[in-house]
Amino acid sequence: MLDNIRAHSYLVARVAEVLLDQLHKSKRTSGTLPDKNTVIAGALLHDIAKTECIKTNCHHAKVGQRICEDLGHPEIGEIVAEHVVLSSFRQDLYEDGIFGAKELVFYSDKRVNHDQVVSLPERLEYIIARYGKGDSTKEHHIRLNFNRTIEFEKYLFKYLNFNPSQLSQQISKNKFYTAATR
Ligand SMILES: [Fe+2]
Repeated sequence: MLDNIRAHSYLVARVAEVLLDQLHKSKRTSGTLPDKNTVIAGALLHDIAKTECIKTNCHHAKVGQRICEDLGHPEIGEIVAEHVVLSSFRQDLYEDGIFGAKELVFYSDKRVNHDQVVSLPERLEYIIARYGKGDSTKEHHIRLNFNRTIEFEKYLFKYLNFNPSQLSQQISKNKFYTAATR
């Protein structure tokens, strides 16, 4: 894995971890929350195939899923497969504060550009410049996916005691399981 992708993955894991920890602290959360190790493993591995796919132009979410399945971890593979685009948007669950590992990794990845925590609009701007490549159809799909992420953010933060712009402060003031495993 390229160093910059590794650094990005560590930060995505920290973001996912802090979101999960803070959801646990929120008394408003009515649903069950995903297992912490699963969330962290999915976040650390979400770009496992990216280095290879940069060279060969493969679909890194799909190839990453296969790598995880081949290693005997299909549950992690599912998170990797859906980190770019969620296969379903479960508004009914999000309304009740029920968020899965795949949603937490999907959202965390949208809040980390390289190794910096950024806002959704900042990440969108980078993704359009990097992957839209002046192609209006691609750009349209990227924007649709981000609109969905913005909607998800509203549901998620109804169950958190801080707002989206305070995420990086939360990261710096919390101790991390992921830091201990480096
Ligand atoms: Fe990715």
